[in-house]
Amino acid sequence: MKGSFTLVDVLLVLALLNEATLTVKGRPHCKQTNSGVFRPHSVSISEFGAVGDGQTLNTKAFQNAIFYLNSFADKGGAQLFVPAGRWLTGSFVLISHLTLRLDKDATILGSTNSDDWPLTDPLPSYGRGRELPGGRHRSLLYGNNLTDVVITGDNGTIDGQGTVWWNWFRNETLDYTRPHLVELMNSNGVFISNLTFLNSPFWNIHPVYCSQVRVQNVTIIAPLDSPNTDGIDPDSSNDVCIEDCYISTGDDLIAIKSGWDEYGISFARPSTNIIIHRLVGETRSSSGIAIGSEMSGGVSEVHAEDLQFFNSNAGITIKTSPGRGGYVKNIFISDVTLMDVNVAIRVIGQYGEHPDEFYDPNALPLIEMITIQDVTGENVKVAGLMEGIKEDDFHNICLFNLSLSVSSGSPWNCSYIQGYSDLVSPETCQPLKERIFPEHSSDCYHLSDHLRRMSSRNGGDQFLSW
Ligand SMILES: *[C@@H]1O[C@H](CO)[C@@H](O)[C@H](O)[C@H]1NC(C)=O
Ligand SMILES: *[C@@H]1O[C@H](CO)[C@@H](O)[C@H](O)[C@H]1NC(C)=O
Ligand SMILES: *[C@@H]1O[C@H](CO)[C@@H](O)[C@H](O)[C@H]1NC(C)=O
Ligand SMILES: *[C@@H]1O[C@H](CO)[C@@H](O)[C@H](O)[C@H]1NC(C)=O
Ligand SMILES: *[C@@H]1O[C@H](CO)[C@@H](O)[C@H](O)[C@H]1NC(C)=O
Ligand SMILES: *[C@@H]1O[C@H](CO)[C@@H](O)[C@H](O)[C@H]1NC(C)=O
Ligand SMILES: *[C@@H]1O[C@H](CO)[C@@H](O)[C@H](O)[C@H]1NC(C)=O
Repeated sequence: MKGSFTLVDVLLVLALLNEATLTVKGRPHCKQTNSGVFRPHSVSISEFGAVGDGQTLNTKAFQNAIFYLNSFADKGGAQLFVPAGRWLTGSFVLISHLTLRLDKDATILGSTNSDDWPLTDPLPSYGRGRELPGGRHRSLLYGNNLTDVVITGDNGTIDGQGTVWWNWFRNETLDYTRPHLVELMNSNGVFISNLTFLNSPFWNIHPVYCSQVRVQNVTIIAPLDSPNTDGIDPDSSNDVCIEDCYISTGDDLIAIKSGWDEYGISFARPSTNIIIHRLVGETRSSSGIAIGSEMSGGVSEVHAEDLQFFNSNAGITIKTSPGRGGYVKNIFISDVTLMDVNVAIRVIGQYGEHPDEFYDPNALPLIEMITIQDVTGENVKVAGLMEGIKEDDFHNICLFNLSLSVSSGSPWNCSYIQGYSDLVSPETCQPLKERIFPEHSSDCYHLSDHLRRMSSRNGGDQFLSW
């Protein structure tokens, strides 16, 4: 039988299978847990002398309230409620078994005085601050070694008032790396939901060395030209689920990372099992979903589905460099809609940017088993700019069912990559031209299992018979 199938046969089978997917497709959801759903004790920040006038600095009130609530940590935890008002504060530190809950008309405002954002150590997997050597300013909401932390609200707001930080960055008057809005380190059971994040000085939400992180139904907004205002950056973290988010910022909407060059290689903590559902957003300078460029601890098992990016520089980007080491593998991205995007798929093998001169240029990253499928694009300039690393080809890159209306006369530019494709328009580049079906479906991450599962649901065994 093998070899006797024509393209028409393949299309017919795919069409049949696709009917099956449509009927079985539900709306996937992050696994729900009961942690933090009910806290037996609750206090309001106003009971601790805080004033929500947008002028009074409330750092001490936040810290005192949390210190008080610490005594309930072993009694089911406690809730700190932030009522309607504008609550100016510097960085404060969260504890385990805490729910920070904002009223719908509550705004936590970050102080515009950098002294209210004290310094903290660089991350061991970065060896230094990301933008400057040495320590970094601590995030507005910060936690280390925590378990069971909930940050939520009825779409209340956390506003970093980042304009001053962006200006300090632009006029090069910063001494240390800018702070995030939320950073949780070494924590387990983190749940962030139903909030709006505005104007972060730097990255917005940064879980690092964490596990079991859920981010649901958040809106993240910063000006499209604000520097490095990444939306959500899971970093050396596992079991992270992000869903129903709208992000419009000046950098990558979601960037999955795991440490930087020799520091990330020796710390060796990967990001794995990262799930993303229903992400909508725009980023004029960067990418909807990015992996890297810091990926030295490895990134694997990323499943992202139902993504809509508009008015953006790139849809999906993998960025790395000689010196990074590590790996990016077992990545599955599907159901992507692009509108007014410069480059649908970007692979950058020479990103550069090293922490110092001690990186090992022979530490080459392993990039393999990347599947991107079911992508449509309107007003896309270039379909793919995909550049691997010489003598370190990125392999088993699989593209399936991409339909892009592209304005550039040379829609693909591929080098040092290898892979397979089917049903891609405009016609893909030479290194990816070999067809996936039937011979190479097992060389493509997820695709073979995925289709096999569908065909058995459909009662058929067409693919197994190949
Ligand atoms: C976190 O835990 C580590 C390892 O147990 C410890 O060395 C460190 O001091 C802790 N940090 C904080 C802020 O609790
Ligand atoms: C998202 O948040 C808004 C405002 O808090 C709420 O009205 C809506 O029901 C939430 N949606 C989900 C899916 O949780
Ligand atoms: C939450 O508030 C933001 C900012 O005001 C708004 O853009 C967004 O639509 C709101 N989200 C929901 C789910 O109501
Ligand atoms: C840099 O920007 C800050 C914030 O806007 C401003 O206060 C400061 O005067 C500027 N410094 C220089 C050297 O331009
Ligand atoms: C978000 O808010 C909606 C509406 O209040 C609520 O039904 C939902 O449970 C909340 N979601 C989370 C994840 O807290
Ligand atoms: C290709 O993807 C589109 C959505 O982008 C979907 O509607 C269509 O059914 C897919 N076709 C196949 C053969 O899977
Ligand atoms: C393809 O990309 C390479 C390197 O990224 C660049 O030097 C070359 O000019 C590009 N070719 C075309 C036809 O765009």
